[in-house]
Amino acid sequence: MHFKNKTAIITGAASGIGYAVSQALVKQGACVFCFDWQKPKIPVAGVTYCIVDVTSSAAIKRALAKVNGGIDILFNNAGVMRRGTVLASAEKDFDLLFNVHVKGSWLMLKYCQPRLRKNATIVQMSSRHALYFPSDPGLYALVKRTALDLAELVEQTYPAYRIKVLCPGPVDTPLSRTDCDETAWARKKKMVCEPSFLAEHIVELLNSDKSKLIFDQKNCNYYFE
Ligand SMILES: NC(=O)c1ccc[n+]([C@@H]2O[C@H](COP(=O)([O-])OP(=O)(O)OC[C@H]3O[C@@H](n4cnc5c(N)ncnc54)[C@H](OP(=O)(O)O)[C@@H]3O)[C@@H](O)[C@H]2O)c1
Repeated sequence: MHFKNKTAIITGAASGIGYAVSQALVKQGACVFCFDWQKPKIPVAGVTYCIVDVTSSAAIKRALAKVNGGIDILFNNAGVMRRGTVLASAEKDFDLLFNVHVKGSWLMLKYCQPRLRKNATIVQMSSRHALYFPSDPGLYALVKRTALDLAELVEQTYPAYRIKVLCPGPVDTPLSRTDCDETAWARKKKMVCEPSFLAEHIVELLNSDKSKLIFDQKNCNYYFE
């Protein structure tokens, strides 16, 4: 896939993985829009930053009005982390997680769809937790599994789109450090990679005919499927 002059929208690209992917795509000539509710500490030259809460229809529509022409790539990436086992979690965390990861992705798909090019690429961020179902973070794993289901449903309903799903392992970002003390961080340290490392794999996935990027927890490496 050539990225030159392709229009890409990445949610949550003010930080972490989305930020690294925005850098990689801009470098290859894409026209990148970041829909995030915060601004990055250091903006990436060439990226257009739109302040958007992805759980708000009005905010998404306002930002989409700033995007000219068709959309080639939609990357649903924005996310938050809440830890805890599934039944001990608070109701407000259930609402937050489902709103940001599931409703946010669905709203982006819904409002971008009329603007998506015929063979547009949709990238859905999920997590290794959607596949391995840990007891903690329980609700987070559940929303990430639901995000995978959303992508599968969209793929079946609109077969012309190229659907790509991501199930990464731990990446060193503010999200993965949320409520993670030194002991917990030390435990997962050998699995952790930098956002730029994952971004390279994501760009490789976009360039390939594969549809999944998965972290193999046992062997601590990534593979495509
Ligand atoms: N890091 C990992 O280990 C890991 C592994 C697997 C999958 N993932 C997934 O990868 C995605 C990116 O995570 P990351 O690790 O790069 O985290 P990150 O550095 O915290 O970036 C996520 C960005 O999304 C923003 N965001 C949160 N809620 C939003 C909303 N309602 N509307 C707009 N923007 C919102 C965050 O803002 P605030 O910081 O202000 O909340 C932040 O700027 C997430 O979906 C995450 O679940 C991460």
